Amino acid sequence: MARTLLVNARIATMRGGRYSTIDDGAMIAEGGVVSWVGPRELAPTLKRAGDEVVDAKGALVTPGLIDCHTHLVYAGNRAREFEMRLGGASYEDIARAGGGILSTVKATRAASEAQLARESGSRLDAMLSEGVTTVEIKSGYGLDVENELKCLRVARGLAEGRKVTITTTLLGAHAVPPEFKGRADDYVSLVCEELIPQAAKAGLADAVDAFCEGIGFSPQQTRRVFDAARTHGLKVKLHADQLSNLHGAALAAEYHAVSADHLEHTDLAGVKRLAAAGTVAVLLPGAFYFLRESKVPPVVALRAEGVPMAIATDCNPGTSPSTSILNTMNMACTLFRLTPEEALAGVTMHAARALGLQDRGALEPGKRADFVVWDATDPAELAWTIAGRKPLSVIARPRG
Ligand code: NIG
Ligand code: FE
Repeated sequence: MARTLLVNARIATMRGGRYSTIDDGAMIAEGGVVSWVGPRELAPTLKRAGDEVVDAKGALVTPGLIDCHTHLVYAGNRAREFEMRLGGASYEDIARAGGGILSTVKATRAASEAQLARESGSRLDAMLSEGVTTVEIKSGYGLDVENELKCLRVARGLAEGRKVTITTTLLGAHAVPPEFKGRADDYVSLVCEELIPQAAKAGLADAVDAFCEGIGFSPQQTRRVFDAARTHGLKVKLHADQLSNLHGAALAAEYHAVSADHLEHTDLAGVKRLAAAGTVAVLLPGAFYFLRESKVPPVVALRAEGVPMAIATDCNPGTSPSTSILNTMNMACTLFRLTPEEALAGVTMHAARALGLQDRGALEPGKRADFVVWDATDPAELAWTIAGRKPLSVIARPRG
């Protein structure tokens, strides 16, 4: 089996969510899986003929980064709405006037699979250029069976020819499409009775998400979506408490969601429910920044209650047009007051858990050996810079 021998590295294993850096560390990977990691002098074996040797020359090595919440597959842009918001309109005003998510739905429905793959592929390449090796991609800009499945197929197809694992999440309950205007419950029936079963049958979705919000879906409608997901054996995640507190965090916990995302308006009771359920809090500082929100997620309470915090770009045209996981780490620290160590754990091991993936996110025996070599020595440097950093090299394998 092909072996990779990493030597001369400062390895931030992220075991237990901590830096626990091994200076002058070594790592052995066999068939893309870590078989040993530790100080070089304890390396249990010498180089074998045929080993691929990676000499990090003293540089920092981290696990491959994981962007666990993106809406990467869409067509068009929302620059005009950005201008409208700068002129005083709110995100909700624009959504209620038929813009917002629905304007991207229009562009996405009109786009061919090839066009979508091209536009989304260049965003994905930008992500990967920063050391990302696993990306979650949601649908949610198709909003009918044909177009939602089209977006999920495009998302899955993006992994071809790239060294990345793509996981897909069906976000049919993102907005009520124009043809169901005023009939949200009927649209939820379509999501539950046609979309979820078809996506599950075609193996196109790993999880199901919903936008539980005043301008999205009610907690009752979200329950219906989650019940259907459960029936079809799909994991659940939730856009919860982003713009108001509909107690989405508690609802996500009740359904043992792998993650509850956004959480700006979550209260202490919601945080305690997440902790009890083991649901990961996914924080999205890009959306907070871009919408110029003022209410930060309850980070102090999440930390105190031991809720794992992941962070992600939320890459989407309306609230977070960003492909930069590194800049997101910086924003998580500057805007939400995470420590740089928490930020790195948030894009490695906690992000893996937010996707229900146990096989990655830390460099320890048994985990995938996707790793990144950085032009840095201290892990805190990754969150310190605002922009402009690129890895020296990324060692990852296609989804196995
Ligand atoms: O995560 N909140 C809902 N969904 C996206 C925004 C989508 C859009 O505006 O296009 C989000 O912020
Ligand atoms: Fe989102």
